[in-house]
Amino acid sequence: MYRSISTLVLLTFAMDALAGDPDAAKSIVVQHCVKCHAVPNYNPEGGPPSVNAPSFTELASDRERYSEDRLRAFLRSPHWPMTQFNLSPTDIDNLVAYIQNLGK
Ligand code: HEC
Repeated sequence: MYRSISTLVLLTFAMDALAGDPDAAKSIVVQHCVKCHAVPNYNPEGGPPSVNAPSFTELASDRERYSEDRLRAFLRSPHWPMTQFNLSPTDIDNLVAYIQNLGK
């Protein structure tokens, strides 16, 4: 009995750690992502039309297309035209949380 309770507590901590912190992603979003993507509050107009990046609102609202797995996989490799960009696993967790939080 005690054992299963402590397992549960540990699991809850582990899940929190995995969830990512949307606030922690803000500086990356403001520094980098807004150059090309429309982001509510920071860059509602979006980047240059020639870049044609999906808005963050779109990424947040279309969960079927932009599933968490897809966002993660995508952010693990740099995307054109932002080629020189390396995100740590924590950055990726935070960014995914940030994007998905916009849809709430
Ligand atoms: C230099 C421009 C540029 C910057 C900076 C940029 N993006 Fe993008 N992004 C794009 C373009 C263009 C696309 C659409 C083309 C594509 O899917 O490759 C895109 C697509 C995406 C997608 C959708 C991928 C999919 O599954 O189709 C995600 C998620 C994304 N960007 C996240 C980010 C995040 C997070 C940042 C900031 C860390 C960022 N982008 C910064 C240009 C940019």
